[in-house]
Amino acid sequence: MNTDFSAWAVARQSRFEEVLRDVLPQPEIAPQRLHQAMRYAVLDGGKRVRPLLAFAAGELAAAEVERVNIVAAAVELIHAYSLVHDDMPCMDDDVLRRGKPTCHVQYDEATALLVGDSLQSLAFQLLVEHRLSDGPQQQLAMIKLLAVASGSRGMAGGQAIDLDSVGKSLSLPELEFMHIHKTGALIRAAVLLGAQCGHVSAEQLAKLDHYGKCVGLAFQVVDDVLDAEADTATLGKTAGKDEDNDKPTYVSLLGVVAAREMVKNLHAEALDSLVDFGDAGQRLRELADFIVLRKF
Ligand code: IPE
Ligand code: IPE
Ligand code: MG
Ligand code: MG
Ligand code: MG
Repeated sequence: MNTDFSAWAVARQSRFEEVLRDVLPQPEIAPQRLHQAMRYAVLDGGKRVRPLLAFAAGELAAAEVERVNIVAAAVELIHAYSLVHDDMPCMDDDVLRRGKPTCHVQYDEATALLVGDSLQSLAFQLLVEHRLSDGPQQQLAMIKLLAVASGSRGMAGGQAIDLDSVGKSLSLPELEFMHIHKTGALIRAAVLLGAQCGHVSAEQLAKLDHYGKCVGLAFQVVDDVLDAEADTATLGKTAGKDEDNDKPTYVSLLGVVAAREMVKNLHAEALDSLVDFGDAGQRLRELADFIVLRKF
């Protein structure tokens, strides 16, 4: 990996950990067990890819870092909630996440359910408590963007399709629809919200939207490939789960070679949408590289 990019990412990741520690309820505040479980699910783990995308888009748009911190935290809280619920026995039934026992294993199922509920509420609380934009209309539009990306027309809807698809073989367009929703929607929202904390034209925002759509889909195709090819210790989550759970994935439909080929095409398309940004698009280019080359 490019050392300059590594240093950039590490600096933002460590600054962002402090933001998360601050915005999450402190563990000694009642109800302590729920607050401890929320912190367990969010802190000390995760690649923080969505926050990095928000930071890169925010820097491109000359956004104030305090604003981007908040949108990045909101997206990461929703993402962490989606993982807690995704791992529950009623969904993927996983015992390992980010190298630790899953939330419902470490605590219990009811607590895991409430952790997800509370992280989602906290995400929206943050978006209304802080100024994110110069005008209230734009801020409302940003809040709506995350609401749509998280709900039945975004991540949660994609998860519903995922569960409904167990044991079925989907067509390529159906699989793409599922992935764009369950994973792509939040990644796209991270890019757009980061940019909207600063100043970009409608034309630039459309280009960033296309970039987000491509890397969002690529992210889940790579997740499917890693599930099939990597090992549990490297992933920090149980490898081979998709096959065990009889889930349709890009690997089950196309095989690893064609899935990797698709990732390559999406990567090229993502980079193509950044051409007009010149040097200002460098971090987003590097993040696209990271997303497709990652090993975990
Ligand atoms: C895992 O996401 C779930 C998917 C949407 C594929 P990440 O791979 O971003 O998980 P963390 O946040 O790094 O643990
Ligand atoms: C997760 O997809 C999508 C979410 C919205 C959490 P997966 O079920 O493939 O994610 P992992 O592999 O468990 O992280
Ligand atoms: Mg799942
Ligand atoms: Mg899963
Ligand atoms: Mg997976």
